[in-house]
Amino acid sequence: VSRKLVLVGFMGAGKSTAASRAAEFLGEQSADTDEILRRRFGTSIDAFFASEGEAAFRQEEEQVVVEALEPGGAAIVALGGGALGSERVRAALADHRVVYLDVDPEHAWQRVRRGDRPLARDRARFAQLHAEREPVYEASADVIVHAERLLSAEEWLSAARSLDDAPAHTRLLLASSRSGSYPVYVGNGLVETGFYPFEQRRFLVSDGIVARLYGDRLEPLAGRVSIMPGEQSKTIAHAEIVWTELARQGATREDHVVALGGGVVGDLAGFCAATYQRGVGVVQVPTTLVAQVDSAYGGKTGVDLPDAKNYVGAYHQPEAVLVDPATLHTLPQAERSAGYAEVLKTALIAGGRLWERVRGGAVDDELTVLACARTKLRVVAEDERDGGRRQVLNLGHTVAHAIESVTGYARYRHGEAVALGLLAALRLSEQPALREEVGELLAANGLPTRLEDASVDAVVTATERDKKRRGAAPVPFVLVAAPGDVRYGQPVPEPALRAAVEELTR
Ligand SMILES: NC(=O)c1ccc[n+]([C@@H]2O[C@H](COP(=O)([O-])OP(=O)(O)OC[C@H]3O[C@@H](n4cnc5c(N)ncnc54)[C@H](O)[C@@H]3O)[C@@H](O)[C@H]2O)c1
Repeated sequence: VSRKLVLVGFMGAGKSTAASRAAEFLGEQSADTDEILRRRFGTSIDAFFASEGEAAFRQEEEQVVVEALEPGGAAIVALGGGALGSERVRAALADHRVVYLDVDPEHAWQRVRRGDRPLARDRARFAQLHAEREPVYEASADVIVHAERLLSAEEWLSAARSLDDAPAHTRLLLASSRSGSYPVYVGNGLVETGFYPFEQRRFLVSDGIVARLYGDRLEPLAGRVSIMPGEQSKTIAHAEIVWTELARQGATREDHVVALGGGVVGDLAGFCAATYQRGVGVVQVPTTLVAQVDSAYGGKTGVDLPDAKNYVGAYHQPEAVLVDPATLHTLPQAERSAGYAEVLKTALIAGGRLWERVRGGAVDDELTVLACARTKLRVVAEDERDGGRRQVLNLGHTVAHAIESVTGYARYRHGEAVALGLLAALRLSEQPALREEVGELLAANGLPTRLEDASVDAVVTATERDKKRRGAAPVPFVLVAAPGDVRYGQPVPEPALRAAVEELTR
């Protein structure tokens, strides 16, 4: 094959190591373009930079990279961090499988600060360069590997190979978690074309609406279970129906459950997979905006009790997630709005480019879904079991839960309550300008910005009660210092909470 595996990414991402490990694993040759340049210069890159300047270096680099990408020679090539600045290089990459090792600037800095890299001397400049280059790496990448933890060559190589059967332009994120890694495929047409990356027999769990729309695309199926659409199906009684059907249809531990649908199906089927015969693999195929930007990743599964949402469940990471944003075209408007609240939440957590996209009007296009998925996966990778950083994902949810509970889960959909909860959190964060902007975005996407049919007292009391149930004091809130700078566990005194809820009624 003339298609090479090309590793790109920032300084300190671990490209050279990954390339040589992959070469060893595959019994192939690898090349590192920085290494070739050092040999060619007969001196360090640092020394060449100092004597000839960056422009001269980039010119030499472009030549070496383009040659390394020509047919023949090493099958695995690691590129220098700045190589993608060249248009010729970017064009040459189109013929190859590009793997982006994504590492945050903090980790990268820790890895390279003591080295001899000319562009790693000043920390602020280093972070700025990282921000400039990130979109360039992302735009070229077929595979994005979250590389703070070095994955084994086997993990990312087999994931990269599985892309050969996916529709062109499918992106693959490799999500790492303490309990392993799993591939997340994102691409328009993924479900439509029937892409499926495993050999295992598939048992489909879906709701009636989604099964009718997309169930057949997942054929061949060894069995199928359908539930009624809606939150009322997320119960132990429904889990029993799924378990019983899986048993009746002959599902074994070697088989996969395929959860096709929104968060209800994902949570229920995921929970059933976690417990059926003490655990079988689940492949999540999310078809709502909520599920594609949030619930399908991270392994939280479960069902509701009559008076307590999500009270029984298990952590069960998926074998893979197949995300086809084109399936969102059939989603009812109200569900799209509900999902938008989570998109906005995720954009506030991420900041940077995702926030810019969303404030510019993006809702549910492929790149927005991809960016939300990356954000959630990054947060979960840092804290799989909700001990710390994962709590930022609750932004807006503390007051939202209280609103849902005092209105009997009937007046507001979850996404609508989250919209109000985000506004309350921004008031508590003392961010009036941001609150106003977020309010406009919510309203433009069919979400409420005013609390009706609920008393301020009741909402404040319910928020306090929720906190007590969690055994935390004082009320730990997630607050926004700025988009991209979100802090969890922030204490909020009662009068401030009351004022924030009061403001919602105006
Ligand atoms: N596990 C997590 O981390 C996590 C995170 C957030 C939310 N959740 C859970 O997710 C659930 C909400 O999920 P949801 O908002 O996806 O709702 P949902 O699963 O109830 O789906 C909403 C509706 O859209 C329909 N639908 C789904 N996909 C469609 C499509 N492509 N075209 C047409 N109709 C389609 C469904 O049939 C359903 O009627 C809640 O139970 C919540 O607790 C879980």
